[in-house]
Amino acid sequence: MSMNSDSSCDPSPSAVVPQVADRAAGISPFLVMDVMRAANARQQRLGDVIHMEVGQPAVGAPTSVLAAAHEALRSQRLGYTEALGLPALRARIAQHYADYYGVAVEAGQVVVTTGSSAGFILAFLAAFNPGDRIATPTPGYPCYRNILKALGLTASLMTLEPADRYQPSVAALEAEHGRPAGLRGFLLASPANPTGTMISASRLQALGEACRRLGLWMISDEIYHGLTYDQPAMTALAFNRDAIVINSFSKYYAMTGWRIGWMVVPDRLVRPIERLAQNLFIAPPSLSQYAALAAFDAVPELEKIKAGYQQNREILLRGLQALGITEIFPADGAFYVYAKVAHLHHDSAVLAQEILRRTGVAVTPGTDFDPFEGHAYLRFCYAGEQAEMRMAMQRLQDWLPTAVIDKDKEGQ
Ligand SMILES: Cc1ncc(COP(=O)(O)O)c(C=O)c1O
Repeated sequence: MSMNSDSSCDPSPSAVVPQVADRAAGISPFLVMDVMRAANARQQRLGDVIHMEVGQPAVGAPTSVLAAAHEALRSQRLGYTEALGLPALRARIAQHYADYYGVAVEAGQVVVTTGSSAGFILAFLAAFNPGDRIATPTPGYPCYRNILKALGLTASLMTLEPADRYQPSVAALEAEHGRPAGLRGFLLASPANPTGTMISASRLQALGEACRRLGLWMISDEIYHGLTYDQPAMTALAFNRDAIVINSFSKYYAMTGWRIGWMVVPDRLVRPIERLAQNLFIAPPSLSQYAALAAFDAVPELEKIKAGYQQNREILLRGLQALGITEIFPADGAFYVYAKVAHLHHDSAVLAQEILRRTGVAVTPGTDFDPFEGHAYLRFCYAGEQAEMRMAMQRLQDWLPTAVIDKDKEGQ
């Protein structure tokens, strides 16, 4: 039948239209990506956007990675690799744990993934049964709770306290586990997104021990390791050999679009994850794997990039203070500033839209990260160029006084 025959265009009156599954209909957007789409549309029209909404370095991948990718294009067939990843890359990642943290990891425990995003899917499917509850920090990375929901799991949102530097505590974890439904797992990230706060090594150790005592899978998202400004981050593997560690080449290694990450998992999860990965993804992208082999050699270049973030962080912290935005989470690491803006508008989603519309500065509303209090916060990513950070602060300075007047008018 021709594709544009009448019968294929006009549904018969008796046709029953298949509906979107409840699971998909009920999934929340990852708002960062919605803001990015709106910002890109504005960029097309006006060409004036400063991207502070998406957590990604403005610079591209380091030189050694690009050279390795060129070489792979020239000399490799770039077919599928093994589902768990190139053996050489798995070995190189395992070596990184000895070099960076002084922690022994076998290459056989390393799983190369299509970004850490695929790592979450594999980890959740391998560790949890449908209906299991997993404690996730709030504010926190929204995809944790959204992926869990999509997979038929329940995110148990743990609110965080300033006294704990907005990181989870053993007492809070025990309280969550003490609820009638109990917990099967616990997720944390340090440095965290959106707050940038870090957990102390002693607290991480206590949480690692608590997970072992309570029989919980501990999932540690270590994607922002390397991006710390005062003290290095420690891997959860140092304190809990059963931890599932998730990491990625996206952030410190500046390879977001290459979609390449990794996990370290206990031996008993390796084969189940391999079976899942074979069926779900076949293999992570092979070009990105060959390129990532060179990423660990790029540290001098990456440290220079990080020094730029550190300067950006100062510009932002000072700039926001000068704008009267003074309630800011401790920006220990990553490349985010999470700031209270309730005095400017009661709904940060509307405020973010207005900021983009009036100034061309794209920022993310806290509602992405925190369904309870997020309406009072904005997240600013400072992984851009320094000149852009200054310009963003200037544009906000020029506009904000008017914006406050607008808000006053709203109540009249
Ligand atoms: C905390 C955190 N984890 C995981 C990811 C996913 O990163 P990717 O899939 O690029 O590795 C992100 C991306 O922003 C993130 O902020």
